Amino acid sequence: MNVGILGSGDVARALGAGFHKYGHDVMLGSRAPAKLTAWSAEHPGARVGSFAEAAGHGEVVVLSVSGRAAEQALSAAGAENLNGKPVIDTTNPIADAPPDNGVLRYFTDLNESLMERLQERFPEALFVKAFNSVGNPHMVDPRFEGGTPTMFICGDNDGAKRTVRGILEQFGWEVADMGGAEGARAIEPLCMLWCIPLLLRGEGDHAFRLLKRAGGT
Ligand SMILES: NC(=O)c1ccc[n+]([C@@H]2O[C@H](COP(=O)([O-])OP(=O)(O)OC[C@H]3O[C@@H](n4cnc5c(N)ncnc54)[C@H](OP(=O)(O)O)[C@@H]3O)[C@@H](O)[C@H]2O)c1
Repeated sequence: MNVGILGSGDVARALGAGFHKYGHDVMLGSRAPAKLTAWSAEHPGARVGSFAEAAGHGEVVVLSVSGRAAEQALSAAGAENLNGKPVIDTTNPIADAPPDNGVLRYFTDLNESLMERLQERFPEALFVKAFNSVGNPHMVDPRFEGGTPTMFICGDNDGAKRTVRGILEQFGWEVADMGGAEGARAIEPLCMLWCIPLLLRGEGDHAFRLLKRAGGT
């Protein structure tokens, strides 16, 4: 698949490397693509460009910018380059204020999510929340003694979710579908939970797993 990744940070680089490893045709986008020169040299064939060029390249687009900048980055990418495409939303609405005793502050509240805002602002893009609830070193080929971890996803478009499920399974995840875009109200705060051990004790080697009873309802 052609994959366009909006972002130049740790998540964009980790997912870019993963898509590249699994044979996808990747382009990373940034306001300053030159900062990705070394990254692209390490991944022969992977390209870098502007947000609009990366989004235009992608049959699937990945949004990996800071939550505060998400709307700006998508505007720079251009709605015409997003319409009708799955947009994997890795972002979290982390506020500028510092955490309270290891608990991140969000600029959204429990009855709305960043992804719903983005879906409303870009109604023709097919947003799917994914990858936001784990640290970037574990996003591709996660390995845990406790078994295969679960990635929680949600979004309004079933076809887009099928595409994202395929990518997640290729990357080594079990997928749990939490319904429409409103599910992001529950999935985005998983990042707060994931980050508490990191912020309090520097522990970042964990991921969530949904346990189900065989034959249970
Ligand atoms: N770090 C993790 O392990 C992790 C894990 C799960 C989820 N997440 C979420 O994934 C997202 C990306 O995280 P990250 O740590 O890789 O990067 P980040 O430091 O949160 O964000 C860096 C990116 O934001 C873009 N950006 C910043 N201000 C901007 C603006 N005004 N307009 C347009 N773009 C702007 C930068 O664009 P330029 O390239 O143009 O500078 C850069 O690509 C975040 O929402 C984060 O909460 C992170």
